[in-house]
Amino acid sequence: MRWLAAALLVAPFAHAEPVASPPEAPDLEPDPGVVHVRLTAAERPDGAPFLYGYEGMTPGPTIRGRVGQMLVVELTNALDTPTTIHWHGMKVPFVMDGATWRGDPVGPGESFLYTFPLEHAGTFWYHPHFDTDRQVDGGLYGVLVVEDPAEPATDELVLVFDTEGEYDPRDEHPDHGHGHLGRRWRINGQAAPVEYRARGGSATRVRLLNASNVDYLALRWPDLRQIAGGQGLLPAAQGPERLVLAPGQRAEVEWRVGESGFTVTTDRYSLNGGDAHGDPVDLVEVLVDAPAPAPPPVAWPFPGGVVSPDPPYTDIVYAFAGSDRTGDWRINGERFPDITVERVRLGSTPIVEVRNLSPTEHPFHLHGLRFEVLSVNGVPPAARTVDDTWNLRVRDRLRLRVEADNPGEWMAHCHILPHAHHGMMTVLRVADDVDNP
Ligand code: C2O
Ligand code: CU
Repeated sequence: MRWLAAALLVAPFAHAEPVASPPEAPDLEPDPGVVHVRLTAAERPDGAPFLYGYEGMTPGPTIRGRVGQMLVVELTNALDTPTTIHWHGMKVPFVMDGATWRGDPVGPGESFLYTFPLEHAGTFWYHPHFDTDRQVDGGLYGVLVVEDPAEPATDELVLVFDTEGEYDPRDEHPDHGHGHLGRRWRINGQAAPVEYRARGGSATRVRLLNASNVDYLALRWPDLRQIAGGQGLLPAAQGPERLVLAPGQRAEVEWRVGESGFTVTTDRYSLNGGDAHGDPVDLVEVLVDAPAPAPPPVAWPFPGGVVSPDPPYTDIVYAFAGSDRTGDWRINGERFPDITVERVRLGSTPIVEVRNLSPTEHPFHLHGLRFEVLSVNGVPPAARTVDDTWNLRVRDRLRLRVEADNPGEWMAHCHILPHAHHGMMTVLRVADDVDNP
């Protein structure tokens, strides 16, 4: 009996490997006003868990800068296919956005210098925007952290979640979602569950990214404390029961570790209507070294702020429709690139209503601009919510106030990458000369 008891005690952790944040990209520039990094996109050797990587890794190196700095990224394309880098969630000049709606991708063997100022603090990410479905699934993505010097320094952990094998090049009308709940999660490239050791009495700022093409996370652990969404600190800390992260979404949470550890799990959650059958899946075992009383909450400089009123008019409606059965995904009845470009004036704050008419969920993502959520199905959020990616549940009606403060022709699309690939993508033009093509 004794061996059995011992086996039961060790069993839960038997296959968990220790996890650490992805390595950070070295800054090649001595000037403190500039962060200069290099990213080479290349195939990985046979047997690697992903097809491609930046600097030979998946996730690629984390890029870290501060508000007010310039970021310079030298991309070298060592793939045998064109690529680009899109800076998801960042307010960048249009030519740096990585979308190929106007302008060409970076060809094989070519290089491109991305350069833009870091305006807002938060947890962002980078990934190709050319053959996106295939290249992101292949392992081309990484995290971009922009720090605000006013935020206290703590221990940090970056966790990037992805599932394996979502992209099937042979599948013409893929059935995205049904029966795929068994796909295995990887965390920072390692198969789940992983193990993380924290000191008792310590606080860790954990930056989370869902980089999966199609799979959702519905994360739970005791005393979940969320401090930031996709665009930096929330108005105040929130304690939701669980944290749903759709593909493309980020969040920051605080782990205050005391006498005992805990397990981060995900409920089974599908784009085909949310909660699904099956037991929760263990993702991260948090273990305690040197147990000690948990510290008090970290004093983050939460900005506060009130929810803007939801006005009785709408400037733009995006109706999302489509079906797994046809693989035909449209916005306002149109499939990218045969779309109508909606126009708004630079400096305006258009009200955009996104309606989900389809039987699946869709994370709505807007490039180059930030939006405030005014209401979901007529109900305003409990606190001011600024983001760049927002999940629409089945039949949701989402109303947004867009900060149209950055000129360009910005992609607006679903971040379920096969949906975007099959047409669920459009363009919002922000310009001074709104009346001229
Ligand atoms: Cu992260 Cu257009 O995408
Ligand atoms: Cu979608």
